[in-house]
Amino acid sequence: MDRFVFYSPTLFAFGDGEEQNTGTLVKHFGGSRVLLVYGGGSVKRNGAYDAVTASLQAEGIPYFELSGVQANPRSGKVYEGIEICRRENVDFLLAVGGGSVIDTAKAIGFGVPYDGDFWDFFTGKAKIERTLPVGTVLTISAAGSEGSDSCVITLEEGNLKWGCPKTDVIRPKFSVLNPRYTCSLPAYQTASGAADMIAHICERYFTNTTDVDLTDRLCHALLKTILAAAPKAIAQPDDYAARADLMWAGMLAHNNSCGIGRAQDWASHQIEHELSAFYDCAHGAGLAVVMPAWMEFVMNHDVMRFAKFAVEVFGCEMDFAHPEVTARAGIARLREFFRSLGLPVTLTQVGAKTEDIPAMVAHRAEKPAGFPFGGFVKIGPEEMEQILHLCARD
Ligand code: NZQ
Ligand code: ZN
Repeated sequence: MDRFVFYSPTLFAFGDGEEQNTGTLVKHFGGSRVLLVYGGGSVKRNGAYDAVTASLQAEGIPYFELSGVQANPRSGKVYEGIEICRRENVDFLLAVGGGSVIDTAKAIGFGVPYDGDFWDFFTGKAKIERTLPVGTVLTISAAGSEGSDSCVITLEEGNLKWGCPKTDVIRPKFSVLNPRYTCSLPAYQTASGAADMIAHICERYFTNTTDVDLTDRLCHALLKTILAAAPKAIAQPDDYAARADLMWAGMLAHNNSCGIGRAQDWASHQIEHELSAFYDCAHGAGLAVVMPAWMEFVMNHDVMRFAKFAVEVFGCEMDFAHPEVTARAGIARLREFFRSLGLPVTLTQVGAKTEDIPAMVAHRAEKPAGFPFGGFVKIGPEEMEQILHLCARD
């Protein structure tokens, strides 16, 4: 295990009814004028909005609203939010929704105290050192932004879907996690969320760092929990136990508990961000297409690690004479799992076109330090193109 510093200061209030404490938590973390950020209306239909606003009112906390945040959130809502916060002297951001809403709130948070354009933090022109505090009430188990040190926004001009540099400064002050609110998710969103969590674990699991047995076992446990819970939540949307497992697994998958002390990969995420930038697909659905293809592409770099993944996570039988057979079986089982959840597993199924592959690679190259990427195996433009072609097969 490598040397590490781990700082994860978010307070988590977990379980049915915890949303009633939102106002108290805002007050506890110094909020007195709130910007409530939410999406296209799911929070109004499932009761989260009513519960949260009632809790703010009970504490006498005034709030303003920024609604209509889209999935794969755009810069326009960030500029709008910064404007409201400055005009109304807002001192606390409360995100009610999923990764897109939370990331919008995070970006508004570090945009408000900065005189320049918030996008400067994404290009590296400025460094995030201050932010308005952010709290979250999570309604979808997926991106892990409720406990993470990152934030992903699409700049409308140029359609650039980039993550800001990771920093503990933007981890939420608190996150309310009531699994009950995730019962209203359409099956496709539950499945996409499960794929995203699995990818967050795999991006960390496939590492060149040795002696990482503890975090390997944490990864196995999280992956097996998601593999068991996601089909249950899809078959029975109000299965509270399955929803609860997914919700906490999603947080653990991405607050870095299972990634500390090891080099991480993140190539599949980098490639997927081009898919969701080009086709506006659900991030997790894009990962269901990319991740197995990436695995096939890099498998020979460390066949034994892929064989271990197959044995420990999917219960595949170890073929000691031919470990590559076991490795391949594990990847096939993962792809089958995604397919069984109703997720796309090919480029066409996610709405993408093979003729756009060169454009996606060129678009990636616009990012500062765009190539190479990937901590497990270095991916250059040619390799990215080959992986995307692998994504095209049935
Ligand atoms: O807009 P509404 O009406 O709320 O509908 C949303 C949205 O259409 C819906 N939804 C959410 N909760 C619901 C619900 N529908 C019914 N019932 C509920 N309880 O689900 C749709 C997707 O929401 P979104 O917030 O986009 O989902 P997710 O949490 O998967 O977030 C995806 C975004 O997070 C980024 C992704 O790239 C993508 O932009 N990521 C952020 C990360 C981070 N900050 O750490 C890491 C991830 O790797 C990821 O890149
Ligand atoms: Zn992700």
